[in-house]
Amino acid sequence: MKIAIGCDHGGINLKPVLTKYLEGKGIEYKDFGTYGTESVDYNDYAVAVSEAVVSGECDLGILICGTGIGMSIMANKIKGIRCGHCHDVFSAKMTREHNDANVLALGERVVGPGLFLEIVEAFISTPFCGQERHARRVAKIKDLENKNFK
Ligand code: RB5
Repeated sequence: MKIAIGCDHGGINLKPVLTKYLEGKGIEYKDFGTYGTESVDYNDYAVAVSEAVVSGECDLGILICGTGIGMSIMANKIKGIRCGHCHDVFSAKMTREHNDANVLALGERVVGPGLFLEIVEAFISTPFCGQERHARRVAKIKDLENKNFK
């Protein structure tokens, strides 16, 4: 598994927590920035991470900003991305299990590092359940994308 990761200045302190965790687990990742505390636009990092997931270069994406909101809104504008905005472990598990989410967005100003890593762990370790009703609902998301996205 390879994970695309990205943050803006609002998520810069949690990114090293994430990279240390992934390295400790032996999980490959690609860091799309940002790399410093200078104010940047979350949009650019959401797009870079999402494109790496859509292209197949990475299997899942994790985005961190102040709230996770801007990142999730932006990521969900990209065809093929189902980004779950999760600040609890149950939602992170369910967005994989039922929504087949391929990107997780969180806010550094919302969760501390301990809960953050539990959410990440739930997200990356839970597979899509594959049940017919959930597959049908994910297919309806894809149908809407095909209708509305260029
Ligand atoms: C940056 O101040 C902040 O707006 C951003 O990190 C994010 O929370 C936006 O949704």
